[in-house]
Amino acid sequence: MNNAFPTPTLTRPHDELLLEGVALSSIADRFGTPTYVYSRAALTSAFDAYRKALDGRPALVCYAVKANSNLGILSVFAALGAGFDIVSGGELARVIAAGGAPGKVVFSGVGKTREEMRQALEAGIRCFNVESAAEIERLNDVAGKLGKQAPIALRVNPDVDPKTHPYISTGLKSNKFGVAFDQALDLYRRAAALPHLRISGIACHIGSQLLDPAPMAEAASKVLGLVDRLAAEGIRLDHIDLGGGLGIRYRDETPPAVEDYLGPLLKVFEGRSEELCFEPGRSLVGNAGLLLTRVEYLKPGEEKNFAIVDAAMNDLARPALYDAYHDVVAVSARDIPPQDYDIVGPICESGDFLARQRSLALAEGDLIALLSAGAYGMTMSSNYNTRARAAEVIVDGDTAHLVRQRETVESLYALERTLD
Ligand code: LLP
Repeated sequence: MNNAFPTPTLTRPHDELLLEGVALSSIADRFGTPTYVYSRAALTSAFDAYRKALDGRPALVCYAVKANSNLGILSVFAALGAGFDIVSGGELARVIAAGGAPGKVVFSGVGKTREEMRQALEAGIRCFNVESAAEIERLNDVAGKLGKQAPIALRVNPDVDPKTHPYISTGLKSNKFGVAFDQALDLYRRAAALPHLRISGIACHIGSQLLDPAPMAEAASKVLGLVDRLAAEGIRLDHIDLGGGLGIRYRDETPPAVEDYLGPLLKVFEGRSEELCFEPGRSLVGNAGLLLTRVEYLKPGEEKNFAIVDAAMNDLARPALYDAYHDVVAVSARDIPPQDYDIVGPICESGDFLARQRSLALAEGDLIALLSAGAYGMTMSSNYNTRARAAEVIVDGDTAHLVRQRETVESLYALERTLD
């Protein structure tokens, strides 16, 4: 490993851990813990890697908002000219509130409601990624009532194995996503015959945390075959959306660099004029963020030592949900022998762990950072156990910006009522 940390903006020049120019301990002092902390420079360089790799051909990088939907994060990407991949009306509202361009929004998801369709049509989004025959009919109906034409791409399911965690693989026949490859032609014909739809593109997304570019290139070739068959019938597409999915290093994975991941795909589309769209989430934000938490108690056990921290599975669900690994580092170096700890939260569930068997030199009150937590961390958090959700901070050079205040407990039950 050339760098001990998965992002170059995290360093330990002396005894203190810094994100860009800001000491993590100063963030804990100012904003408390648990707090998600993101690096603007890391967000920017992740986006730039896509931009550079796609330079010279028509392409749109639509950040997958579900990975991290904080307005501060969205505003950073909006300023870089990103498009956005959304899966709900709520995410569309966030994109607009953060200054994102609706004309660069693609709308994915298997369950779009009529209201969400209306909202997206009024906003003038770039494309609906349609996932079923029933959705085609519904969208045509909603668009007709508004006197509009809805731009669509059919999300096809190329049935390739992305070789990733079963919960996050989406391109297999057994998944609920997309339409079966061999039905796509018929569905395009049907859509082409409907007055309030405009066929714009084709979309696919095979899974997440992909570490091997080969399955994606296989999916791309299949998609291209379909594009040509459609063209032969006079159905011409202006864009091809290849989804997201590029993996990141959490532990010792060796994901391809963006240019090595996109290289084989760009080869497949060499000489083609269609705009290429991508929907990366994790690879843009995952390693740009960490979860900062404080050790409340050290609890030596007969079989294990526990470090009980003030973050929990409600803040970072990935370990409990997927047995996911997040690297843990102590914020301040201590001159005591390290011990093996399970890092756990205060929630009343045995599944409430953040990391297991980590060798750390810790004392009560110490700060630790769970790394690679920028993607699917805060967005998957909950209020379980009536825990107010974490604050969020974006570091930019020497400045720390609070981009989400810590929730107050009163706000958690403000919408509830007691009975007489
Ligand atoms: N596009 C579509 C249609 C998707 O379903 C997803 C992710 C993405 C783009 C973004 O994929 P990415 O580049 O982030 O891999 N909660 C899980 C990940 C679920 C991903 C769902 N879809 C986790 O924490 O690992």
